Amino acid sequence: MLKIQNLAVHYGMIQAVHDVSFEVNEGEIVTLIGANGAGKTTILRTISGLIRPSQGSITFEGSEITKIAPQKIVAGGLSQVPEGRHVFAGLTVMENLEMGAYLRKDNDTKADYEQVFQKFPVLKERKNQDAATLSGGEQQMLAMGRALMSKPKLLLLDEPSMGLAPIFIKEIFSIIQEINQQGTTVLLIEQNAKMALSVADRGYVLETGKVVLSGTGSELLESEEVKKAYLGG
Ligand SMILES: Nc1ncnc2c1ncn2[C@@H]1O[C@H](COP(=O)(O)OP(=O)(O)OP(=O)(O)O)[C@@H](O)[C@H]1O
Ligand SMILES: [Mg+2]
Repeated sequence: MLKIQNLAVHYGMIQAVHDVSFEVNEGEIVTLIGANGAGKTTILRTISGLIRPSQGSITFEGSEITKIAPQKIVAGGLSQVPEGRHVFAGLTVMENLEMGAYLRKDNDTKADYEQVFQKFPVLKERKNQDAATLSGGEQQMLAMGRALMSKPKLLLLDEPSMGLAPIFIKEIFSIIQEINQQGTTVLLIEQNAKMALSVADRGYVLETGKVVLSGTGSELLESEEVKKAYLGG
């Protein structure tokens, strides 16, 4: 579904991503794990069209999207939940969800709001509340709900567990699995390697802008290198 080939990304003279290749098949949860500064967000923003690569190609469902405008990429079925959520603080919960549906060509959104509320009941309780007044975990749920309102075929999540209490982390990961089981393919970026690998079909380990290891989620969980570097020994 998504194929990244020999991707390189520069910020001015600094190269943040070096010759990265990986793929995500339809129906999978694939995770990209790595430490601070490994290049995870850079890769995600490049896939979404927000940063232009200096080399390489990105194809989504067989079409090259490397030079496509971000809003067209979203309309084509690829939606991202950015690092740090970035909900629209001055808008209500409901208005944030409406923004997620903005690029849709159909008006048949009613059932999708219901689905989002069923996954995240707290958003229904707070639908008229300003997004700025939500807790961090609730904002993460809103950012995910907003992305789901665009009806993505592929959902990109950038560190959904960041800054959340363990109970919220568990809930977020179980909802990611539910979203996947309902037919959405997921690319999950995480520093929480243990949680990410335990829900992922496959994973890639990124170090200073390079893929250094790949395998199934369980293979990587068992890998000595991963254990040493990411799972505390
Ligand atoms: N706008 C920018 N200008 C210059 N350098 C940048 C910019 N954004 C990121 N970088 C650099 O690119 C490298 C990769 O950063 P990136 O944000 O992709 O890492 P990350 O893996 O998402 O890290 P984290 O887990 O901390 O979010 C880092 O060395 C960072 O300093
Ligand atoms: Mg990041």
